[in-house]
Amino acid sequence: MELILRDGRLSSGEAVDIGLEGGIIRAMEPRLTAEAAQEIDLGGQMVSPPFVESHIHLDSALTAGDPRWNQSGTLFEGIEIWRDRKQSLTLEDVKARAIATLKLQAQQGVLFVRSHADVSETSLVALKALLEVRDSVKDWITLQVVAFPQDGLYGSPGNLDLMEEALTLGADAVGGIPHYEMTREDGVQSVHRIFELAQRYDRLIDIHCDEIDDDQSRFLEVVAACAVRSGLGSRVTASHTTAFASYNNAYAFKLMGLLARSAINFVANPLINITLQGRTDTYPKRRGVTRVKELWHQGLNVSLGNDCVQDPWYSLGDGNMLTVAAMAVHICQMTGQDEIAACYDMITTNGAKTLALGNTYGLAVGQPANLIVLDAPSPYEAIRRNATVTHVFSRGKLLVHTKPAEVRWVSG
Ligand code: FE2
Repeated sequence: MELILRDGRLSSGEAVDIGLEGGIIRAMEPRLTAEAAQEIDLGGQMVSPPFVESHIHLDSALTAGDPRWNQSGTLFEGIEIWRDRKQSLTLEDVKARAIATLKLQAQQGVLFVRSHADVSETSLVALKALLEVRDSVKDWITLQVVAFPQDGLYGSPGNLDLMEEALTLGADAVGGIPHYEMTREDGVQSVHRIFELAQRYDRLIDIHCDEIDDDQSRFLEVVAACAVRSGLGSRVTASHTTAFASYNNAYAFKLMGLLARSAINFVANPLINITLQGRTDTYPKRRGVTRVKELWHQGLNVSLGNDCVQDPWYSLGDGNMLTVAAMAVHICQMTGQDEIAACYDMITTNGAKTLALGNTYGLAVGQPANLIVLDAPSPYEAIRRNATVTHVFSRGKLLVHTKPAEVRWVSG
């Protein structure tokens, strides 16, 4: 073996030694007798598959306050500010901010990321930059890029052509924003067009769907119906779906049956939607996050994302996935032990399912050696303490080592 990690602990609590060679996990046993050129003592810490960031916008990350701050706190003012900021985008600007954000995430245990790239401005600079970044970081982090028409597929006459160009250039997934199209009909048509393009170019689908408090925003049913008819199911993701939280229960019940049949993935972004949504409410004020617990009970795949890191929609954010999981625990009221464990799955294995990573992800013999070590004995403690990720192993090598903060009482 090239490297043996000694005295780790699986999420089940079982002790484990892990042997790595040639970028692959070669052995996992309670006590490995083999020897290695290098051994690292994990001191009983938990070993986990890496975190998966299911939804982020790397093209707008780290631009908060430029050219101005979002005063209303709404999604729509954010879109206006971004429309101004994106006039001055350059390849170097986007690449530098994207790589800085990916490093911020990788050092906190994220090794798989799905980013949306705005494809509604004519130079496609955001998309081109993120495709270059995807290639330049591939030896330490896996990046997927979604062609995302921020201003709507039918918002301007050239937007559809830009989407096709983005797919020709190599975007991994087709995106959309039906609730932001000018009319309901445009929204429905955009979803049909997205499915058509995904099939023609053989790409995944990830749609910003019903990210609004409007209980009449019902594009999720269109996405689910298209998924059923096309058979694309698990290759389809509905992101945000915050209006689902405002639907009346009779409709939600009927919809849930269709969703179960469609087997699509869901991404909730609790940090962002708890702040963006409910802005037109007085009291009671809606939570603005989709029905995560109910989707999970239904057996549907739900994963979580940061969505924004210091951008026109959210001036805070540090890319930490445990913070996202903790926020989901609170807003979705998933405080039971099995529910907290489920929220941990939403930032690991469920995210891998959303990204369709297949057998390239997971903590098992024969898998690529991507894994993280946390300063916590269990997923529950990891979320409760917002544990430090002490070691990040990527492609069989130690990528980042972080020492947990040391506290020393001086008097008292
Ligand atoms: Fe988003």
